[in-house]
Amino acid sequence: MKSLILVVDDITKNLQVVGTVLRNQGYEVMPAASGDAALKSVRSRLPDLILLDLMMPVMDGLEVCRRLKADPATVQIPVVFLTASNEMEHLVQGFEAGAVDYVTKPFNPPELLARVRTHLELKHARERLREMNEEKNEFMGIAAHDLRNPLSAIMGYAEMVSEDASALAEGHVKDLAASAAELDANARRIGNTAARMAEMVQNLLDANRIERGEMQLNLAPIPLATVVGAVVETQRPHAVAKQQTIHWAATTESIAVLADASVLTQVIENLLSNAIKYSPAGREIFVRVQRSGDGVRCEVQDQGPGLSAEDQKKLFGKFARLSAKPTGGEHSTGLGLSIVKKMVEAMNGKVWCASEAGHGATFLVELPPA
Ligand SMILES: Nc1ncnc2c1ncn2[C@@H]1O[C@H](COP(=O)(O)OP(=O)(O)OP(=O)(O)O)[C@@H](O)[C@H]1O
Ligand SMILES: [Mg+2]
Repeated sequence: MKSLILVVDDITKNLQVVGTVLRNQGYEVMPAASGDAALKSVRSRLPDLILLDLMMPVMDGLEVCRRLKADPATVQIPVVFLTASNEMEHLVQGFEAGAVDYVTKPFNPPELLARVRTHLELKHARERLREMNEEKNEFMGIAAHDLRNPLSAIMGYAEMVSEDASALAEGHVKDLAASAAELDANARRIGNTAARMAEMVQNLLDANRIERGEMQLNLAPIPLATVVGAVVETQRPHAVAKQQTIHWAATTESIAVLADASVLTQVIENLLSNAIKYSPAGREIFVRVQRSGDGVRCEVQDQGPGLSAEDQKKLFGKFARLSAKPTGGEHSTGLGLSIVKKMVEAMNGKVWCASEAGHGATFLVELPPA
């Protein structure tokens, strides 16, 4: 997107000169011939940078700058003063009013452009940092919240284990076998809950690694149907437990895609486990692999609740826990599809969803052929 620069000067000639220099470099320019006009146009549209004449009749640049810096909506916009060389003594006041820099008149275009570029880059870097920081905070908040539930479950089970152990030690347990069975059951609960936490932590780490572009991919020709078939078999017991049927017609034709085998497995696993997780008991799931145009597709179609247009917009975002809830007590962190999307894109493919609320969902992955 073009950066928008507000240029404020009471001398039309200056507005023209600066405007031309900036426009020639691809910037969008918003001119203002007075302090008042400048404040007005800022209210209608926020510029990325302001070049502000220091000396102007009625309201001078210093006053304009002070007002901009007093308003939370405009405080972040960098202000660069335009000053004649005989006005240098006012510069200190300019910096005090909140300016970041100055350019002296008459203008030297390369210098003007260099300063404009620097301050725009700094502003964008600041914004990016702020966004990243907010995202990190949100990420940590949700992660901490989601890890607290299983942690308190583990603490509860551990307490039960130690109560059972003291009862045993004190010798007032009559049914030793029953007591051992209870100890074992609680130890298993601790193990399962910890495994769930480990999986969540792994997901969080994966998401971060992909985001930083540190995911190592080993792209090679892989028969898509073989990977999909293997995932279907590992997921089938979960479907069976919910009386769901997975229909998978292993194609005889072996179509190879260029992908990373373990990443691809993770992608298909996510889609199929979602179909099982969000479909009510007894429904059917269809898994297909086929050529399509230049690519090769895998489709996972379910008869679950489907997704509204609203939900589809958020579907591939981080921590998207939407209207559909797990139907068999499975856990949901809302990270799966955001990871899927990044993984598929890293393999030069695409993933999307076709669905209508109430009519099931179909998830499609398309990858380049090998
Ligand atoms: N097949 C589906 N049918 C209906 N809704 C779905 C389907 N798959 C995903 N969703 C919705 O999209 C949300 C995001 O899915 P995603 O896989 O990213 O996370 P999750 O399944 O909640 O958790 P996990 O991180 O364990 O995968 C889910 O919470 C669910 O509401
Ligand atoms: Mg999921």
